[in-house]
Amino acid sequence: KRIRPARIEWRDHTPSSPEFQDVYFSRDGGPDEVRHVFLAGNGLPARFAGRRSFTIGETGFGTGLNFLVTLAAWREQAPPEARLHFLSVEKHPLTAGDLAAAHSRWPAFNEEAGMLQAVYPPLVPGLHQRRLADGRVTLTLLFGDAGAMLASLTARVDAWYLDGFAPGKNPAMWTPAVFEQVARLTRPDGTLATYTTAGAVRRRLEAAGFALHKRPGYGRKREMLAGRLGVVPPTSLSTPPWFVPACASPDPERRAVVIGAGIAGVSVAHALAERGWRVTLVEKQDRVAAEASGNPSGVVLPRLTADMDRQGRFSLAAFLHTTAWLHRLATRQPALSWQPVGVLQLLEANRQAQLDQLALPTSILECVDRATASARAGMEVASGGVIFPGGGWLSPPALCRALLADQARRITVQTGREIIRLERDEHHWRLEDSRGQVTTAPVVVLATGHAVTRFAPNLELALASVRGQLTCLPVSPATDLKLPVCYDGYVIPACDGRHTVGATYHRNDACQELRAEDHARNLAALARAVPAFAGATPCGGRVAFRASSPDHLPILGPVPDFDFYRRAYADLRHGRPAHRYPAARYRPNLFVSTAHGSRGLITAPFAAAWIAACLETEPLPFETRILEAVHPARYLIRKLQRGVV
Ligand SMILES: Cc1cc2nc3c(=O)[nH]c(=O)nc-3n(C[C@H](O)[C@H](O)[C@H](O)COP(=O)(O)OP(=O)(O)OC[C@H]3O[C@@H](n4cnc5c(N)ncnc54)[C@H](O)[C@@H]3O)c2cc1C
Ligand SMILES: C[S@@+](CC[C@H](N)C(=O)[O-])C[C@H]1O[C@@H](n2cnc3c(N)ncnc32)[C@H](O)[C@@H]1O
Repeated sequence: KRIRPARIEWRDHTPSSPEFQDVYFSRDGGPDEVRHVFLAGNGLPARFAGRRSFTIGETGFGTGLNFLVTLAAWREQAPPEARLHFLSVEKHPLTAGDLAAAHSRWPAFNEEAGMLQAVYPPLVPGLHQRRLADGRVTLTLLFGDAGAMLASLTARVDAWYLDGFAPGKNPAMWTPAVFEQVARLTRPDGTLATYTTAGAVRRRLEAAGFALHKRPGYGRKREMLAGRLGVVPPTSLSTPPWFVPACASPDPERRAVVIGAGIAGVSVAHALAERGWRVTLVEKQDRVAAEASGNPSGVVLPRLTADMDRQGRFSLAAFLHTTAWLHRLATRQPALSWQPVGVLQLLEANRQAQLDQLALPTSILECVDRATASARAGMEVASGGVIFPGGGWLSPPALCRALLADQARRITVQTGREIIRLERDEHHWRLEDSRGQVTTAPVVVLATGHAVTRFAPNLELALASVRGQLTCLPVSPATDLKLPVCYDGYVIPACDGRHTVGATYHRNDACQELRAEDHARNLAALARAVPAFAGATPCGGRVAFRASSPDHLPILGPVPDFDFYRRAYADLRHGRPAHRYPAARYRPNLFVSTAHGSRGLITAPFAAAWIAACLETEPLPFETRILEAVHPARYLIRKLQRGVV
């Protein structure tokens, strides 16, 4: 599905929609109307006081004016540790140009508008979560139809702004299905406000569980509606119980141990520390980023699929999330040396045509012929393909160091410490290392690559170790490459005088030594793709082991209680309705982030954002269908469904 951007008509500098025959905000209202209807209607800004975290939901993001006014009001009084989460659904987002034009009408909100414009996502369907205001504010934009998008969201909303054009002109935004989702996502005692008092809207909101009252409307409008959640009728959850994660056991201590200091573990530690947690990061090697994350450089690009199945959607979402995250991090940590120079992927014509049909914005994907590809690469290449202008390359160890430097006060790194046992007492996890030293923690995250099966043996089903060998080549005047080029391998512009050429794939091959035949394979593929490299002599290389799962998706989330799964879901093959089964059970406050395969640079930071959001009960950064696709019990569930356990 594609996004059709809003078509805007400007009347007296006020944006309106010819399609819906309605205005985005009234000509003489604007910020004052927003304050009256949506803020005061929800008891805001008074309710911000004393709240460490507050979540607002909106139907109809439009120009983002409601967001700007809310952000300004929140910033005026929020203490440094407070967090604001604003989520909004929008079927026809404004283009970045129209957004800026609309904001130019409100100079009082220039600062907030600048923040929003800097993180405004590209117009592709799905959930986009961005952080702004030094990470204190998250904006979750759901691009798509309200009913479907809200159904795919996991969040606990304190206050709703219902703002979807007049019900008579746009009934699709005021349906029982939309309100059922609004109620499902609302905290007990959560509130709503809207300018309309239409009878059908009132009846449907009441049926969804809200107690309503009328308040004086703004300007010429006599009345508006405000409401508070009461008893919610049971909702039909589209996610089966075995894939519903357990996030809601908030840890008052905000303390965690993360095992494994590769990009997966370091990015989880960073995401938690950014939210005020104290984290101990334990690594068995004598330094961070010593195993799969220890390569001198790596490419940041997605793996898109022709039909954008779960893997393609996850990969695109991870790519967009992580490149925005790297951009934000690079402004604070220049030593990260993120190189957003774009990535060229060489493709055969039919594969190029498949990706072209996805009709992604050119800021994400550009089809190029061979001449353009060569010009952009700065070297002759063998074919055309696609360029990902937002991609690039970086040094994974430098990224890990930058993340730790960014949160040095809150993360304690313990290298040279191998955890060999993990046990749970009533309240804490007990971690024992190879020297018999014990650490306890309320929350533990396993980020140990394929070694995770030591602590969660049931994950063996879903994991393989895949050996990869890189080849290093000395830089020369003839190899002045401008951006990474990917083919059935990849070559990266020079870093510290060397090009990194990747990489081989050998499953369950434990050989640690560099092999001449693997260098030869890497160099042959490179010479076919970028002929000027033919005949180059390696000046080194590196062997590392990817943790991979057969469906090329990570294993991410709370660690299931696999014995419970086997008992409770034993007869899934009979196909009884999902709601007849009990809720899933997990090992308390134990999370896993692994199987990042050959795209860990984009997937590990995305996974980290999910774990941290889950532990803080924030709006989750992925849609439910993605959650199901990465769930740690998915292989067991598939086996139970086939009756082969
Ligand atoms: C050759 C090669 C090329 C690659 N190229 C790219 C690329 O260009 N782009 C890209 O996106 N991805 C690439 N990848 C994939 C990427 O490197 C990985 O997905 C990523 O590094 C995985 O990070 P991780 O933190 O999960 O694992 P790791 O980096 O392996 O970290 C796991 C850590 O856990 C530690 N550990 C394990 N057990 C214990 C224990 N019991 N106690 C304490 N510590 C423990 C280990 O020592 C290790 O440091 C490549 C991978 C390889 C092998
Ligand atoms: C009144 S405008 C919102 C104004 C906005 N809150 C602001 O601050 O500018 C209503 C918005 O709802 C969006 N919309 C309409 N129908 C929708 C649907 N079915 N799902 C999601 N969004 C929809 C429109 O594209 C429009 O941007």
